[in-house]
Amino acid sequence: MTIDFKQDILSPVATDFAAMDKLINEGISSKVALVMSVSKHVVEAGGKRMRPIMCLLAARACGETDLTKAQKLAAIIEMLHTATLVHDDVVDESGLRRGRPTANATWNNQTAVLVGDFLISRAFDLLVDLDNMVLLKDFSTGTCEIAEGEVLQLQAQHQPDTDEETYLSIIHGKTSRLFELATEGAAILTGKPEFRKPLRDYAGHFGNAFQIIDDILDYTSDADTLGKNIGDDLMEGKPTLPLIAALQHTTGEDHAIIRRSITTGGTTELDRVIHIVKTSGALDYCHKRAIEETEAALEALEQLPESPYRQALFNLAQLALHRIQ
Ligand code: IPE
Ligand code: IPE
Ligand code: MG
Ligand code: MG
Repeated sequence: MTIDFKQDILSPVATDFAAMDKLINEGISSKVALVMSVSKHVVEAGGKRMRPIMCLLAARACGETDLTKAQKLAAIIEMLHTATLVHDDVVDESGLRRGRPTANATWNNQTAVLVGDFLISRAFDLLVDLDNMVLLKDFSTGTCEIAEGEVLQLQAQHQPDTDEETYLSIIHGKTSRLFELATEGAAILTGKPEFRKPLRDYAGHFGNAFQIIDDILDYTSDADTLGKNIGDDLMEGKPTLPLIAALQHTTGEDHAIIRRSITTGGTTELDRVIHIVKTSGALDYCHKRAIEETEAALEALEQLPESPYRQALFNLAQLALHRIQ
């Protein structure tokens, strides 16, 4: 069965989604014109809105029927996500995001960092309005861990000895943690603490699979499809899973090329590295790991009562595994 995003994932929360999107636009408004232009530049470019959709579906899967608060939480999640992207593009020196020049490329690093900070602060400002101390604590702790994940990644840059375990703690922090906040937050908000763990486990494994796929696409896709440049990870000497696996699957000259590419960064050997990643069995291994993570995500969902919303979360995980952008 092929999964259709609108039909099989979005439709059960389509009304909530429209309301949430409006809230994002209100949330990014600022009396300082530059703050608003930069935020709008990134938000209006679109993005898949996977995290807020997951939050809305999770709230409904918990049995909630009044989504007023969950819509706010979903908007907060997307604002936090947008902030991490704006910051990430500064750190990664990326030039293209969501098919547009990045904030750092359009304005400059200083502006991007400060507007990213604004988005995080505004997100917490709105979170306080939800008047839920458990939720606030979960988000404060969680966002610290997201920042730690990014710093851990910075430390691993140019380190060819980075192992899969370290890679997993990096991606859990920088990516999966926000997905966890989106779904666990929904369980907290809707007063269903018994669903916190299953929803968090679902999102954590989903996030791992999602980032593994993203790291594969950085070697196998193209800018038109992805809306961001490929080869960025190699450029920065990031030891992502395709390269960690390539080191495991090669010897001799190929092995030396991968090690050297991580150590020095740069894209002069991009074509050769792509070839090695594709032919050494590294890519197959990455796919296998992404499938395992997706299966773990789906297994966690089984603990929720059956509903069209649970089914949509199920479909989302399946679709993410086969995404091309
Ligand atoms: C990009 O996330 C950052 C990663 C975790 C790989 P998305 O791929 O969800 O980005 P948008 O929101 O759709 O642009
Ligand atoms: C994900 O890492 C970044 C965040 C979670 C902010 P990447 O650096 O791989 O994300 P992209 O490829 O720039 O979207
Ligand atoms: Mg990046
Ligand atoms: Mg990437």
